[in-house]
Amino acid sequence: MSVFRLIFYLFLFIVTSSSSLSLTSLTSTGAAISTTGYLIVPGASLYYETYGAGPLLLFVSGANGDADIWRPVAKILASNYRVAIYDRRGFSRSYLSATGLQNYTQRLQTDAADANHLAKHLQFNGTATVLGTSSGAIVALEILQTYSSTFKTVIVHEPPALTILPDAANLTAQQKSIYTTYRAVGIPAAMYVFAQTYDPASNTTRIGTGSVDGFTIDSRQGNFISGNLQYWFERELLQYPLQGLNLTNIRVYSKNLVLAVGKDTTPESPQYRANTLMASTFGLAVDMLAGGHVGYIGDTRVEFAADLAGVLAKRE
Ligand SMILES: *[C@@H]1O[C@H](CO)[C@@H](O)[C@H](O)[C@H]1NC(C)=O
Ligand SMILES: *[C@@H]1O[C@H](CO)[C@@H](O)[C@H](O)[C@H]1NC(C)=O
Ligand SMILES: *[C@@H]1O[C@H](CO)[C@@H](O)[C@H](O)[C@H]1NC(C)=O
Ligand SMILES: *[C@@H]1O[C@H](CO)[C@@H](O)[C@H](O)[C@H]1NC(C)=O
Ligand SMILES: *[C@@H]1O[C@H](CO)[C@@H](O)[C@H](O)[C@H]1NC(C)=O
Repeated sequence: MSVFRLIFYLFLFIVTSSSSLSLTSLTSTGAAISTTGYLIVPGASLYYETYGAGPLLLFVSGANGDADIWRPVAKILASNYRVAIYDRRGFSRSYLSATGLQNYTQRLQTDAADANHLAKHLQFNGTATVLGTSSGAIVALEILQTYSSTFKTVIVHEPPALTILPDAANLTAQQKSIYTTYRAVGIPAAMYVFAQTYDPASNTTRIGTGSVDGFTIDSRQGNFISGNLQYWFERELLQYPLQGLNLTNIRVYSKNLVLAVGKDTTPESPQYRANTLMASTFGLAVDMLAGGHVGYIGDTRVEFAADLAGVLAKRE
């Protein structure tokens, strides 16, 4: 299974499951929200929520950039941590400034800086832990190297770190082909290329039927899906997976680094191979967390939270 298919499934899941992720439906079963608000940072206002009390544990979302996907796990872990979730800038409720302009040539660095600003704003009195998944794991690798005084533990979950892999050239070409399709004929068609190119067995006949399904961008299935997809395609589809990574520099911080993959993720997938490669390079283990690429949502979320708590306990 390719990273593209997995990112695609992330969207599919959000589209098909958004109703079960609403705050209203979960507040009765989990910890209550502790704080919510906006943090003004250079060029953006970041929407965040926190749950519980204890050491700060910050989650960084992947392709969809949205806080909502973490809410179930945040509520489970709230008994032991102050869990913070947020929308990355430009996604969902985190809006961009009209006057503090974006510098997209350093967007990754800005994303990492946002996480650091948020951790400091939440007034942790020691050091924080951050977990970034998928594109957010690329952000986490940047956090690792830049904000080690804030984040002593950086969990990199399923990073699509394509450039460090031996088949980087092919993976890069595939990624560029999806982007070209999106620019030429739009997002639903680019999604079609995802499925057709990387998962030929999938049912691509649903494309173009006009039905409410994972291949369409139908806002009835989630308020932010359209804007988030657009922003991700334009600003991250190429930039984050194709980010140049320097393993020599990452090694300097490897004592803070935790490499994690999903128990159900195929070892042949690029984001799994990236962590296997970093583990062997740095002499680290790869921690297994429940579920696949998006194990923190759906049926595996309770087990994911337990697995993550176990990983964190080992470091205390
Ligand atoms: C510091 O943080 C710990 C847990 O993170 C908390 O229990 C404690 O009350 C905090 N202390 C202060 C002075 O804020
Ligand atoms: C954007 O960031 C790049 C890289 O740091 C820098 O060279 C460039 O001058 C910046 N552009 C603006 C408009 O600030
Ligand atoms: C790259 O793709 C080409 C065409 O599909 C294939 O023949 C080649 O083996 C691939 N190379 C690697 C390193 O995966
Ligand atoms: C594929 O999707 C179409 C349209 O939803 C459906 O009619 C068809 O039965 C599906 N085929 C398979 C093999 O699932
Ligand atoms: C990685 O960074 C180091 C400096 O820390 C530099 O010497 C080296 O050339 C870099 N490697 C690559 C491939 O850019």
